[in-house]
Amino acid sequence: MHKMIKQLSLLVFSLGLFNLAIAGQHDPRAPGVTRSGKTIFHNYCSVCHGDKGDGQSRARNGLNPPPRNYTTPESAIELTRERMIKSVTQGRPGTAMIPWVTELSGEEIAGVVDYIRSTFMHLGNQAAATTRAKPSAALLASTGGVLYMQACALCHGELGTRQTTGNMNPPPRDFGSPAVIAELNRKRMIASITNGRPNTAMRAYGERFSPAEIEAMVDFIDAAYMHPAATAAKK
Ligand code: HEC
Ligand code: HEC
Repeated sequence: MHKMIKQLSLLVFSLGLFNLAIAGQHDPRAPGVTRSGKTIFHNYCSVCHGDKGDGQSRARNGLNPPPRNYTTPESAIELTRERMIKSVTQGRPGTAMIPWVTELSGEEIAGVVDYIRSTFMHLGNQAAATTRAKPSAALLASTGGVLYMQACALCHGELGTRQTTGNMNPPPRDFGSPAVIAELNRKRMIASITNGRPNTAMRAYGERFSPAEIEAMVDFIDAAYMHPAATAAKK
């Protein structure tokens, strides 16, 4: 009962904000008119997400869950472009994030999502990931490559940059980042895969895979993600 009242008041509150957002809007949706992502963000979204996209708006205190802070590392990992477009189109049930499909065209939704991504989100890793080459067919066909794609890519990604699903804390490391390359040597990687990393999503694989298989996966990670240029040069 208490929960229902809370949800109801949240709904009334968010509808109020919604009207507020609409009232500030001077350019109603018209066929053939596509408003810029920036215009849409500041007319419709900043009331909750804040002018700087960090969720620090006046509306924030009344909202549970609070509006997304786009500037955090977690947001950069979790919020793929596809997920954002879906959330803006369909809303997030049970939250103040309503569906925008009736207010904004598909093009405008993509536009405001791209505006948020390029203006507020810290996508360093993701940008690197999109320019990073896929492992060669030969590497993918190696024992380590086959096992990695079966057992590890789920979290570490096909590009070794970490996968964007889920809410892991800490998230998987980006095997291609210079800091990670400097920190991880072969011995440590074998130990981490065999024994897992306590209090993280990285569990122990020592019972599932033989030492030779674990070494094959380490070789694959090294050749495919950590030192891809060296591997290419050797060919
Ligand atoms: C009434 C307040 C409010 C307004 C206005 C609002 N949002 Fe949100 N938004 C939220 C809240 C609250 C969440 C967090 C929902 C959650 O945690 O699932 C959220 C989450 C999001 C997310 C992340 C969703 C996900 O998949 O986790 C995106 C992207 C987003 N909003 C974009 C927008 C855009 C674009 C607009 C303007 C067209 C907008 N929001 C307007 C409250 C608002
Ligand atoms: C459920 C998600 C998940 C799966 C599946 C997974 N990992 Fe991980 N992995 C993680 C996370 C999270 C970390 C970061 C742990 C940390 O920060 O200490 C990690 C870290 C690592 C590290 C670095 C460890 C270190 O010493 O810092 C290596 C190497 C690694 N994983 C290899 C693998 C291999 C090989 C597989 C497949 C057999 C695999 N992982 C499967 C989530 C996963």
